[in-house]
Amino acid sequence: MTIHSIRKICCIGAGYVGGPTMAVIADRCPEIQVQVVDLNESRIAAWNDPDFSKLPVYEPGLDVVVSRARGRNLHFSTEVDAAIADADMVFISVNTPTKTKGLGAGQASDLRWVEACARQVAQCAQGHTIVVEKSTLPVRTAVAIKTILEAAHPQVADASSSTSFSVLSNPEFLAEGTAIDDLESPDRVLIGGADQEAIEALAAVYGHWVPGEKILRTNLWSSELSKLTANAFLAQRISSINSVAALCEVTGADVREVAKAIGTDSRIGSKFLQAGPGFGGSCFQKDILNLVYLSHHFGLPEVADYWQSVVSLNTWQQHRISRLVVQKLFGTVTGKRVTLLGFAFKADTNDTREAPAIRIARDLLEEGAQLAIYDPKVESEQIARDLNLPASSAPAAQAGPTRAALSGEGTWWPSNSVDEAVSGSDAVLILTEWNQFRELDWTTLASLMRQPAWVFDARAVVDPARVAEAGLMLWRVGDGDA
Ligand code: NAD
Ligand code: UGA
Repeated sequence: MTIHSIRKICCIGAGYVGGPTMAVIADRCPEIQVQVVDLNESRIAAWNDPDFSKLPVYEPGLDVVVSRARGRNLHFSTEVDAAIADADMVFISVNTPTKTKGLGAGQASDLRWVEACARQVAQCAQGHTIVVEKSTLPVRTAVAIKTILEAAHPQVADASSSTSFSVLSNPEFLAEGTAIDDLESPDRVLIGGADQEAIEALAAVYGHWVPGEKILRTNLWSSELSKLTANAFLAQRISSINSVAALCEVTGADVREVAKAIGTDSRIGSKFLQAGPGFGGSCFQKDILNLVYLSHHFGLPEVADYWQSVVSLNTWQQHRISRLVVQKLFGTVTGKRVTLLGFAFKADTNDTREAPAIRIARDLLEEGAQLAIYDPKVESEQIARDLNLPASSAPAAQAGPTRAALSGEGTWWPSNSVDEAVSGSDAVLILTEWNQFRELDWTTLASLMRQPAWVFDARAVVDPARVAEAGLMLWRVGDGDA
């Protein structure tokens, strides 16, 4: 194989990573045919929808990239076997959630989808196929993949007629909401492997738009472990700053001032020091728990405990915020209306996986709150699934407590705008840093609320002076003065 031989790529998994990553590869490499395949028919239909606002993943700029390449050299389909057979490089970009039962439940990654892919590739591949782990995987998963591939196709003496495989690790570092920028201008691309030709073939794909010095080559295990470690380090910074935020609140310090003071130290750096309601997203918690599991597995309980504390602090921060809302509202939210602004785990995405809003909303529902939820991108059906509770119909803004409210049963309903959500509320709780929440007219909103009313700003996006002018009480994460 020469490094220029990649002509056909198949990506198994058309999710948050597979879809955008392959769209950018197809956009930047017009001579490579890219097939993105998935078992989920409705997801594939959405990727093929002529209306680009219906793509299954919301990412700024994604529609433009997909519109340039789709139908030319970017294709979405459910024909998994055929796409594998046709490809000279197969990316595995399927979900690897935390196991919910069995050995390692609650910590280890559930690799059933990855293994199913490996078996399918083993069955369908033809000629030499480079198999690329794009999913985030525990260290040494490549051994399992290789074993499955080789068991199905033992090498035969006549190399020209045999089916053969190289396995590479190429973890993805994109963050949701900035996926297209991250893919088009990555800090680095990491390729782990032992087969130099395969590594160079993949490097050549990225070389279409990524400067050579940003393409790092390592062994397989370093690459797999680097992905888990990168997420663990990022999440650790958030837990660290959130722990300091709690200290700021009781000492009169301001976490933003502290973050700036420490972040200007070039050894610490300023990024990922934003205190908030804790990290969400599909990966931070899952990947740290995986690291915890691996550490135990390899007989390193102290290492496991160290990383476990990052997750524990995060959970604590979320419960701390819901407790604080209850305490400030005279010790009870039963029957009270609380507006949640934002449900996605961060701004500029419709993804709610592990969103802090889920745990906080559940706590408040448990306390009997009536939640009006507004998020510019999250569908109400998704919120209902996350809360495991169907939406109620919205009561009239000024109506007294409903029967359900008086019985202490928590309910929620979706709102179409901030004004609608806030009407009749005792408190507003900001959980996602959507830009539109930075510019709210608090004087008008205050006139719609039941007084005395609170603003709980878990993302520190409001202007405290404007909230005070509106006669509202304010709690801001990490603000010892609020
Ligand atoms: P996702 O759940 O959005 O998408 C995975 C897709 O794989 C689903 O559509 C599912 O139907 C499909 N799938 C599963 N098994 C299949 C099979 N055998 N054949 C065909 N399709 C199959 O997941 P995601 O967020 O794209 O994450 C994928 C991987 O990338 C995970 O390992 C994750 O940890 C990692 N990752 C995610 C992000 C992120 O921002 N979401 C970033 C970096 C890495
Ligand atoms: C994260 C990493 O940033 C990516 O590099 C990685 O590829 C990805 O996980 C993954 O493996 O899935 P993502 O979860 O999409 O990306 O988003 P982040 O921007 O990292 O935010 C994660 C969570 O941390 C969000 O809930 C965000 O609000 C929170 N956060 C982030 C803070 O609370 N404070 C900060 O300063 C930064």
